[in-house]
Amino acid sequence: MTKLIVEKLSKIYSTATALESIDLAIDQNEFIAILGPSGCGKTTLLRCIAGFVEPTSGSIQFNEQAFYQNSRQIPVNERELGMVFQQFALWPHMNVLQHLLYPLNSSKHKQLLSQKEKEERIAEILTLVELTNFKERFPNELSGGQKQRVALARAIVSKPQLLLMDEPLSALDAHLKETMIREIKKIHQATQATILYVTHDQKEAMALADRIIVMNQGKIEQFDTPYNLYHYPASEFVADFVGKAQLIQGNWQGSQFYPAGTDTEFFWTGQEVHPHFRQQQTYPVHPEDFVLSADQGLTVQVIDKQFLGRETQYTVQLQQQEMVILSQDAQAAEIGDQVRINRKGYQLCG
Ligand SMILES: Nc1ncnc2c1ncn2[C@@H]1O[C@H](COP(=O)(O)OP(=O)(O)O)[C@@H](O)[C@H]1O
Ligand SMILES: [Mg+2]
Repeated sequence: MTKLIVEKLSKIYSTATALESIDLAIDQNEFIAILGPSGCGKTTLLRCIAGFVEPTSGSIQFNEQAFYQNSRQIPVNERELGMVFQQFALWPHMNVLQHLLYPLNSSKHKQLLSQKEKEERIAEILTLVELTNFKERFPNELSGGQKQRVALARAIVSKPQLLLMDEPLSALDAHLKETMIREIKKIHQATQATILYVTHDQKEAMALADRIIVMNQGKIEQFDTPYNLYHYPASEFVADFVGKAQLIQGNWQGSQFYPAGTDTEFFWTGQEVHPHFRQQQTYPVHPEDFVLSADQGLTVQVIDKQFLGRETQYTVQLQQQEMVILSQDAQAAEIGDQVRINRKGYQLCG
């Protein structure tokens, strides 16, 4: 069932168009990442949905409640949502328990829940975020990861059906990030909330989301599953930003792709590619899509080799183009060698 519907949403600041006619339909309990480079409008979109930014035009509906429609918006505190920010935004004079009591003592929860129910709810959430032994602590007595867990707990303690998070892990180091990603997934399972999660980190988006909204310059480039964005990008931007794909120049003839300069000698089959790339006469490929030193294939010269531990990165010259290939084999070739490359899992014909 579709829960969040955004239609033709635009936000124009005096100096910039932050959002341009955004359309979205998101189902209950979906985990959605909003991914894109800095300045593409991610925060503006999230803040329009939260009610902190007034849109210029369009509409936002959640659960049949109009958050914004016909230039009228309902206040933030009537939207029953939870929000987590990049900078944890904790209150220095409140301990963990007070942080969690705050949402329960405001708006409708104040009347709805008895003191005992509030205490039970807080105990349950503290267990979920593993902070039961920290409830008396103040923010300056907590580590970065613990602070962020308090911010998460505060956002979910009132059991919102919609949880908005704006780069919540960007202040944490890589190791802590991984732990928190698991934590956030656990919270999603436990709360069944619809989550909108802003990030500029494609790995984080892929690790967390059911579907990803890829944004660029105030518009949605593509809205799809992580798998489809990686394997079936619809634009150069998505191919590069999500898949770190390389665009090989050449020409398409039906489902056959001839890399430039190789003429009719060899071709790769590419049934799965988006029609956009056929028009552009390019083929987005990943570094791990190829084998070096194949028995059969296009002859290339190895121009660089970097041992990365688990894999080795070879840069090869394919006629006028450079191409990067990642291989598990550190001994596949040396700089200066002529080798044959072939696409994995595809019949290279010629
Ligand atoms: N309050 C504001 N006033 C004017 N321009 C703004 C304001 N907030 C954001 N912008 C502009 O809108 C665009 C989108 O910003 P933002 O939504 O913060 O992007 P992101 O979160 O993807 O980095 C940027 O060009 C930014 O400079
Ligand atoms: Mg932002």
